[in-house]
Amino acid sequence: MSNTAQPSQSPTTDPPASLRCVRVCQNRTCKKQGAANVLAAFAALPVPGVMVTASGCLGQCGNGPMVLVLPETVWYSRVHPSEVPLLVEQHLLGDQRVRQMLYYRFHPQG
Ligand code: FES
Repeated sequence: MSNTAQPSQSPTTDPPASLRCVRVCQNRTCKKQGAANVLAAFAALPVPGVMVTASGCLGQCGNGPMVLVLPETVWYSRVHPSEVPLLVEQHLLGDQRVRQMLYYRFHPQG
């Protein structure tokens, strides 16, 4: 009989590498522009494998509400809650960027 200890399988809280994340800025300027409602709109449309999180300032104040989709690093600006279903359907479920909502500064070609 062996007395070799088995490596323990410690639980992890890290999301799987394949998990997609939608970060919705909730800092002051974006919040003034309605970011809380944008976050609520995402929360109302959960997508398996996609984690939606409130984020601190994403450094693009004045262009908000800002939304950043990771890991593909796609930025959306001036997102309105009524546009969230389109973003969910086309980008998160369909893997197609919503060109008309892209942040011009980081996606100048659309
Ligand atoms: S407050 Fe949202 S990007 Fe700065």
